[in-house]
Amino acid sequence: MAQEDVFKKLVAHCKEYGYVFPSSEIYDGLAAVYDYGQYGVELKNNIKKYWWDSMILLHENVVGLDSAIFMHPSIWKASGHVDAFSDPLIDNKDSKKRYRADVLIEDYMAKIEAKIDKEVTKAQKRFGDSFDEQQFRDTNQRVLDNRKKIDAVNSRFVKAINEDDLDEIRQIIIDAGIVCPVSGSKNWTDVRQFNLMFSTEMGSTAEGASKIYLRPETAQGIFVNYLNVQKTGRMKLPFGIAQIGKAFRNEIVARQFIFRMREFEQMEMQYFVKPGEELEWFKKWKEMRMKWHQSLGFGEENYRFHDHDKLAHYANAATDIEFKFPFGFKEVEGIHSRTDFDLGAHQELSGKKLQYFDPETRESFVPYVVETSIGVDRMFLQIVTASYTEEELEKEDGTKDMRVVLKLPPALAPVKLAVMPLTKKDGLPEKARKIIENLKFDINCQYDEKDSIGKRYRRQDAIGTPYCVTVDHQTLEDDTVTIRFRDSMEQERVSIDEIGKMIMEKVSFRKLFEN
Ligand code: GAP
Repeated sequence: MAQEDVFKKLVAHCKEYGYVFPSSEIYDGLAAVYDYGQYGVELKNNIKKYWWDSMILLHENVVGLDSAIFMHPSIWKASGHVDAFSDPLIDNKDSKKRYRADVLIEDYMAKIEAKIDKEVTKAQKRFGDSFDEQQFRDTNQRVLDNRKKIDAVNSRFVKAINEDDLDEIRQIIIDAGIVCPVSGSKNWTDVRQFNLMFSTEMGSTAEGASKIYLRPETAQGIFVNYLNVQKTGRMKLPFGIAQIGKAFRNEIVARQFIFRMREFEQMEMQYFVKPGEELEWFKKWKEMRMKWHQSLGFGEENYRFHDHDKLAHYANAATDIEFKFPFGFKEVEGIHSRTDFDLGAHQELSGKKLQYFDPETRESFVPYVVETSIGVDRMFLQIVTASYTEEELEKEDGTKDMRVVLKLPPALAPVKLAVMPLTKKDGLPEKARKIIENLKFDINCQYDEKDSIGKRYRRQDAIGTPYCVTVDHQTLEDDTVTIRFRDSMEQERVSIDEIGKMIMEKVSFRKLFEN
């Protein structure tokens, strides 16, 4: 099945099973804004806990913060967001559609990359076991021509972006023959910069109101509180401050479901270090963050680093952790060495000293910062994408059946255990409810008695519930139940007393952290 179709099915699945709904749906929706349903919110909370605990519990020098979304507007001036937080946009004069010029060029390069991959896959099939992929990539003429095309566009693009040369960006689009996906025409306007911050007004009267921004990143709340935390927590360098919270960006190109939203959530950690040590910490955090992703078990080959050619105004090194989505490798997390840019800028604009006093050297200085920044929603999309599986099964009568299963890591699954009485009579429902009564304080359980057992299993598979327990007549006699495992579909007879311990071991975050 084409990757595009898989993605469409995934979006439909998320809606059908209470994971993600379009916002304001009864009013035809609001572009690039989504609501999380009954299972979505549980998965999201579990993702946040996985991140939070990995930062706060596993590092004794990382502490948390919850700063306000509204902040003094000068913060965004100092951080550079008022002047430089913008995307280059271009309009197609025929379709009147607006695009991010850089995304048009990146998509163009990704399409050529996809052609190369196709060529490789074809050859792999043709040559079988004797296929040497590297040699093929190095020698096949069509691959080499396409690689040359990508390199030529990429080097012009990087130079133009670094020099903020908007005319050259437009020229690349024209020279590459990029057409509007809607009108199919090359009738493009000039490229302009477009600031991504949402603004509103604070104050009760029109005259007294002042312009205020919805934060486009949570990081600035950490920067302006760093000395409060350092002093009250008696923190010594290096130390980190972690925060989870909403961020808002008026994205020009909002698409790919929850990948690029206008209201989203970030999990950010700013790690304050001595000047000169930042690149060493940057390297360490790069490795730690990659491990955190890979511990989920979705396959190391589905992740890669993408080092930035164009550094943001605040960084001296930056990389993205990319995941292989159905629409290609895309950024899930950014790791940035932000130097002393932010603290230095706040110190200058506020006139308040933001220096750290080193008790050992008795020197005062502005620390450098290494940041890890990941979107909760993008992480959510990564997890459901990697977990969504369609399996063909053979029924007892030899006919084929299909099951859709979300193979979520058990620790992240919204519902850990479904308890099902075989029938709605003979005291089985009461027995099933008793099991839940015992476990519900530690494990998210669901009671399910409607439809046949087979249908109930399918429903729980689709939600991603890793364990189902069936209560039958034997249970009344010997206090044993059948436990069924989502991924293998195997079943085992176990004593009711064992269920709690057995499941708690498997769904604990400890397992992920130990990885
Ligand atoms: N403080 C640094 C910062 O905000 P960023 O690369 O702009 O860096 C960090 O954003 C992460 O936030 C991204 O890797 C992505 O996961 C998430 N993110 C950014 N924009 C987003 C959007 N419009 N929708 C969903 N997630 C987004």
